[in-house]
Amino acid sequence: MNLTEKEPDQLGTRIGIGREAEVFNLNHEWVVKLFYNRTAEQIKNEVQINQLIYKSGLPVPAAIKAFETNGQLGIVFERLPGKTMLADISTKPWKIFRYAKQLAGFHSIIHEKSISGLPEQRLQLIENIQSAEPVNEEIKILALGILNAIPKGEQLCHGDYHPDNLIMTGNNLKIIDWTVASAGNPIADLALTSIFLLLGRLPPETPKFTRWAVTIGRKLFHHLYLSHYLKLNPGHKNEYKKWLLPVAIGRLNEGIVEEQDRLLAFIQKSYEENNRS
Ligand SMILES: Nc1ncnc2c1ncn2[C@@H]1O[C@H](COP(=O)(O)OP(=O)(O)O)[C@@H](O)[C@H]1O
Ligand SMILES: [Mg+2]
Repeated sequence: MNLTEKEPDQLGTRIGIGREAEVFNLNHEWVVKLFYNRTAEQIKNEVQINQLIYKSGLPVPAAIKAFETNGQLGIVFERLPGKTMLADISTKPWKIFRYAKQLAGFHSIIHEKSISGLPEQRLQLIENIQSAEPVNEEIKILALGILNAIPKGEQLCHGDYHPDNLIMTGNNLKIIDWTVASAGNPIADLALTSIFLLLGRLPPETPKFTRWAVTIGRKLFHHLYLSHYLKLNPGHKNEYKKWLLPVAIGRLNEGIVEEQDRLLAFIQKSYEENNRS
């Protein structure tokens, strides 16, 4: 199919809204992810990164090409019929046991890959920590010290891995939203998912019932996810704990206003614990 032959502004139904973009159906095979705020250069990079990950054999939608409509930039992806893991759990909460294990299992599979040509996780983290305005210098210095004492790693890390970025299609699962993928230390990526699961706010359009189910179930889901990941990858518990402070500070830089108070409280607590030990 040659998409350049399509009228660029003929978008179908909107099927998803994220923090970075909205996703529209183009036809039964393709969707387009239209970003709120991206340069053409960033879009091009993202298509290339997605193609590298696709070629590695991981279950991800194919990125077809960059797209523009009315001045808004986007990427055309293979359409995945099905629901996100988050949407499915909220209507079928009994599935949390299976899904938490699956989330951990696929995270481990991602972390087995090593793909050249990706941005360096360590550089992204250092930049995010340095520009985290609400955190004082003393805490930043401690976090950077912790980070520099742990191997930087060179495994594939998703950087935004949580149940709203996995799409369930029948018995298959696909991982989307590789915008901030990097090469780095998988345990930092694990700690980041912990922060999402424990403290992350839900997307604005999340139905009330989902919010209620998530509030009740998030601690249990997190426990099941983390313990399964550490069972599959034993010997990393201490390193995991060390990563929590640096990745929580880095997360502040995402600028998600609704998350800020919780993150700051978590950072303060973790700083005090580090100082005691
Ligand atoms: N390839 C796809 N096929 C079907 N739905 C998709 C696809 N990509 C994204 N979506 C839907 O759009 C939502 C937002 O997409 P996502 O890539 O996660 O954007 P954001 O970076 O803003 O979080 C997803 O949670 C999902 O519901
Ligand atoms: Mg997303």
